[in-house]
Amino acid sequence: MAKRVCPWWLGYLLASPIRRLMCDPAKVLAPYVREGTTVLEPGPGMGFFTLELARRVGPSGRVVAVDLQPRMLAGLKRRAARAGLLERVDARLGAPDSLGVADLAGTVDFVLAFAVVHELPSMDVFFQESAAALKEGGTLLLAEPRGHVSSIEFESELRAAAQSGLNPADRPKMRGNHVALLTKA
Ligand SMILES: C[S@@+](CC[C@H](N)C(=O)[O-])C[C@H]1O[C@@H](n2cnc3c(N)ncnc32)[C@H](O)[C@@H]1O
Repeated sequence: MAKRVCPWWLGYLLASPIRRLMCDPAKVLAPYVREGTTVLEPGPGMGFFTLELARRVGPSGRVVAVDLQPRMLAGLKRRAARAGLLERVDARLGAPDSLGVADLAGTVDFVLAFAVVHELPSMDVFFQESAAALKEGGTLLLAEPRGHVSSIEFESELRAAAQSGLNPADRPKMRGNHVALLTKA
């Protein structure tokens, strides 16, 4: 069955500063992203997390943000340009069944998959592509909203991740979300 993709206009709400009251990107990302880091962000929407990622990676790092919807990417680029961070963001249009990141093989330190995996047609392909992009010892932060994803579904995502060699290293707490930090062995 086709998965439901978040409508582009919801991108404005998701990137709204009001969301910070529930979830502060700086606090979420601080443990994982530092100067010089290479980040892959599938499904960035209009960039609620992307701008903070770009700030944290600094001029020597980069953020590859892959979304399916051109209007999400247009909003993301507009916001990154306004913040003077566009140079650090490689915004790419993905295909529904592939992120198209074979060129990143073994170069990514951190993948942020926030509220996206439940929208993808194949989580198996997603975890395979992410694992291939990550360096050994690289990490993937998987977060899924409890309102859309049940505990059973989240556990099945973790099993799919493990099939690609991404194993849980931690289960950080975040209000309203299932969260796991996965490491590439
Ligand atoms: C619920 S939004 C979350 C946006 C962002 N991660 C956040 O938390 O604010 C899901 C995003 O994933 C994108 N998406 C859905 N399917 C995708 C696919 N196959 N490849 C890339 N992006 C996808 C949607 O276009 C949307 O921008």
